[in-house]
Amino acid sequence: MEVTIKPVRTLRGEVQVPGDKSISHRAVMLGALADGETKIENFLFGADCLSTIRVMRGLGVRITTVGKRVVVQGRGLEGLQEPDNVLDAGNSGTTMRLVAGILAGNPFFSVLTGDGSLRRRPMKRVIRPLTDMGAQIAARAGGAYAPLAIKGGGLRAVEYTSPVGSAQVKSAILLAGLFADGPTTVIEPAQSRDHTERMLRYFGARVEAAGTRVTVWGKPDLRGQKITVPGDISSAMFFLVAGATVPGADLVVHNVGVNPTRTGALDVLTQMGAEIELLNPKEINGEPVADIRVRGSRLTGTEIGGSIIPYLIDELPVLAVAAAVAEGETVVQDAAELRHKETDRIAAVVQVLRSMNADIEERPDGFIIRGGRRLRGAVCDSFGDHRMAMSAAVAGLTAYGETTVKGAECVKISYPNFFDTLNSISVS
Ligand code: S3P
Repeated sequence: MEVTIKPVRTLRGEVQVPGDKSISHRAVMLGALADGETKIENFLFGADCLSTIRVMRGLGVRITTVGKRVVVQGRGLEGLQEPDNVLDAGNSGTTMRLVAGILAGNPFFSVLTGDGSLRRRPMKRVIRPLTDMGAQIAARAGGAYAPLAIKGGGLRAVEYTSPVGSAQVKSAILLAGLFADGPTTVIEPAQSRDHTERMLRYFGARVEAAGTRVTVWGKPDLRGQKITVPGDISSAMFFLVAGATVPGADLVVHNVGVNPTRTGALDVLTQMGAEIELLNPKEINGEPVADIRVRGSRLTGTEIGGSIIPYLIDELPVLAVAAAVAEGETVVQDAAELRHKETDRIAAVVQVLRSMNADIEERPDGFIIRGGRRLRGAVCDSFGDHRMAMSAAVAGLTAYGETTVKGAECVKISYPNFFDTLNSISVS
């Protein structure tokens, strides 16, 4: 699918973004491991979370959907069944890595695979700690890539110092830790999003966290819960950058999850001079939520690096668009993890923005953008990556001429109605 974006005069309106992807995945997984029923409201019906539902069904879990609600019939910690076929995580790294943690705890054989992109993403980062805990995991290319063949069970609790600040790695180990006796600890180089920790507590597990160190106690009594998934801040960020970069824009995005381990991009945009306000703060299921208002403003370049990177890793492509529009230089560093996402997002950002006339220099762990040049519409590839497709569309809003996004159907991964919502707030 090709989508053409025309420059807009301005943006006006109110937006409700779909449910948070990270939280939707975890709600299905923990619901499956709990005793009793879990009802999930505002679930994200994006392809990635549907992959989690498909995989958990393959493990014998009954999951039904009615409107935006998902109901999971929990099977208890010991209740999953050996799958009689390969489990397919599609494009979803979160599904593959977190489910690998769950499968490591289960005394049966299973095979996890995914699409071409996922089969090129690094899996040693979860295989190593899960093997240390006692699981047997074989994988392609000397244990580097999926498919993964897993024979789990009999795990021991460990203390693991992770070389990467990654919530997927941390969560895989914490989920495996549920099946071991005693405390399992993960120490990260920089703290990553903490949705697993919050939701484990919400379901009744004992979790202690202090900075970059988190411990879960094994064999908890997990009880089915009611969960309302907040709007996804990663999806909201496309509109927040659009609102910040389009002159005269005034947008409100409602009900957005503002967990402090996810709001790095809000801090950076504010530092760049964006007018952003958080309204009506509240808490749902242990997660902070607010409405976010943004108004068009003059942005200036900034530096992005260090321990904030995991708090904004998924937003770097769209922050690069803000940096291209801003006056002055923006330096993004310490973000080599971007090369291991749905596509190599450093190479992809550089290619897209350069084709639109931005002054951008590729670095091994990020990029340098000298902003302020007027962007020019271009034909952009999505690289099959949802966040690249939406970032290119946002860049097109302030460019001269038309921008075409090729392969735009990949927005179905996290935001199936993105282009309809963008149209609804565009004033031409
Ligand atoms: C996610 C963690 C992040 C993020 C991904 C979702 C999660 O990946 O990029 O979109 O739900 O745990 P890493 O853990 O690999 O950084």
